[in-house]
Amino acid sequence: MTETALTESDFAAAVGQVQAAAKSYYDTGDVLMTDADYDALLDRIAEAKRAHPEWDDRGVTTRVAAGVSSGGDVRHPVPMMSLDKINDEDSVRDFVAGLGGEPLLVEVKLDGLAIRVEYESGRLTLAALRGDGSTGENVTAQVLRGIAGLPERLATPWTGEVRGEVYMTVGDFETASANRVAAGAKAFINSRGAVAGSIRSIDRTYETPMTFSAYDVSGSFDSHRARMTHAVELGFPVAGRLATGEFQVAADGDEALAAIARIGELRRSLEFPIDGAVLTADLESTRRRLGSGSRTPYWAAAFKYPADTGSTVLRDIEVRVGRTGRISLRAVLDPVFVDGTTITYATLHNPKFVEEQGLAIGQTVAVWRAGDVIPRVTAPIGEQPHGLTPWAPPETCPQCGEPWDKSSLLWRCHTASCSAVNALEYWCSREAMDVEGAGEALCVVLVNTGLANDVADLYSLTEEQLAELPVGNTKAGGVVLLGKLNAAKVVASLEGSKSQPFNRVITGLGIRMTGRSVGRWLAARFKTMEALRAATVEEIAEIDKMGLIKAQHVVDGLVAMSGVIDRLAAAGVTMSVPETDGEKPFEGRTYVVSGSVPGYTRTTVSERIEELGGRASGSVSATTTALITSETTTAKATKAAKLGIPIIDPAEFAEMLAG
Ligand code: IVH
Repeated sequence: MTETALTESDFAAAVGQVQAAAKSYYDTGDVLMTDADYDALLDRIAEAKRAHPEWDDRGVTTRVAAGVSSGGDVRHPVPMMSLDKINDEDSVRDFVAGLGGEPLLVEVKLDGLAIRVEYESGRLTLAALRGDGSTGENVTAQVLRGIAGLPERLATPWTGEVRGEVYMTVGDFETASANRVAAGAKAFINSRGAVAGSIRSIDRTYETPMTFSAYDVSGSFDSHRARMTHAVELGFPVAGRLATGEFQVAADGDEALAAIARIGELRRSLEFPIDGAVLTADLESTRRRLGSGSRTPYWAAAFKYPADTGSTVLRDIEVRVGRTGRISLRAVLDPVFVDGTTITYATLHNPKFVEEQGLAIGQTVAVWRAGDVIPRVTAPIGEQPHGLTPWAPPETCPQCGEPWDKSSLLWRCHTASCSAVNALEYWCSREAMDVEGAGEALCVVLVNTGLANDVADLYSLTEEQLAELPVGNTKAGGVVLLGKLNAAKVVASLEGSKSQPFNRVITGLGIRMTGRSVGRWLAARFKTMEALRAATVEEIAEIDKMGLIKAQHVVDGLVAMSGVIDRLAAAGVTMSVPETDGEKPFEGRTYVVSGSVPGYTRTTVSERIEELGGRASGSVSATTTALITSETTTAKATKAAKLGIPIIDPAEFAEMLAG
């Protein structure tokens, strides 16, 4: 760090900031500063204190502030220690050398809070936080509200003590933070802040799902592995097996470094947050031989990975439609260096959450990188400038201008051209190609697995590929596959869809501002895809009710989809209206169908009328040939009667259509 030395007044302010941040964190879990900023500020205070020993640091450089809270009312029978930190290759080798050639284990250092839990005859009787190491806060009531991995009752009547870490998975973090914001409180910064902020809050009305993994359990064992295997038998998840499912053993410095590197690489794909790797002697004899100091054991150490949380200024929020048609919010940030990369963009939660948080452009926000490669903006952090206007999401899709479907938290745009999933779903809908079994769930997996990126890809899917696709979850959290039977149905239905009439193919392309009617008009007027693609905007606009704007969308849409259309044609999908033998009994007639005609849907009845040379219209006018309805009192029927237009019974009309 190349920051200038602190002046005496800056020094006093910095001491105040550090104290306020620590107090807020321990009292309420509210994070005023990221760990990295906190450590950096503490370093500058310590540096200034060395140059000016007479300045009053109110004890912040001598008291171990970070990671140590005030005690509580539960005394720990054996102190809850912490680990010495090692930061580089040489210190890892030194630590391993100190074990004298005896094996060590390398496990994830979970980023949460240390907890100690007592069981009596298989029943959870006490849970306490680490506190200052000797005494900690009693959190039994909160733990009994439910923490995954810490059952209220074990399967066996075991009496003993388990120690480990309480943390939040990335998914649980999002839920917890959203629940907290919905309850009118502040959003959480990261997993550790979230656990700190919720595990002590007794009267919390919102749920904050948390998970426990053990790294110690009482009893006499020859090795850490045997001890932790016992913990697994009792029903506790253990930290040592979280990363790969196996304990990671190392025999020397090289192997320890390789294991540290392996966990470091896995870090971004883990569903839970880690801030380091713990190196620990496996054998109890090694541990006894090395012993412990007052605060830390000599047989274990923590290798710290770079901090996963940074803070920076939110400059903009970009709204887009993702490949699944869902709204996605992207934060544009002042560049900030977090865990080895400079971040300028981050994802944000759903629009409601952003709105409820009152997030504003110009605000300083926390950026958390955990669980995957995508960093996320989690919450405002620290002091904020005054007078910022909270950000409001747009009411319509920025791509097509249609209003959002807000029926779920991740708003959705249904316009086919706005996303791959929408395009597939619309193509398969009853309105278009009527492919059975190809609803939203299947279309989402097809896009997510890359099996279908556009509608033409559907026609090269095989039963084998489809059968293996996950299309849902069981209540128990299992995966539901599409299965052979359903796969066969979908493939057969796709095959059948190739002979759907041409107007449905046009409709299925999902060109903006077009639907069933436009599909029929275009098919009737141009007859073949070739002629349609050759048509000019003016020619298309000549169609009654079409207009220049829709016509322009049709031309643009056909150009944009030309590759897809060529592949559909190659797959054998209908690309023209069949040549008729000239029989056009409905030539020159316009029918208005109101209600249902036996044997037809709203779409197929219009299709049949047009096939016979007639026109299907939605409203009664002077040019209407007849109204098809069984009702005589409706507005349409009254109008028809006034204009002297005949009314035909639907059953009779069905016969005319068949004839
Ligand atoms: S072993 C003697 N193993 O890291 C202490 N600690 O300073 C034995 N932690 O607050 C700790 N994951 O809560 C151990 N796999 C792991 C851990 C772990 C997280 C925490 C622990 C403690 C801190 C160490």
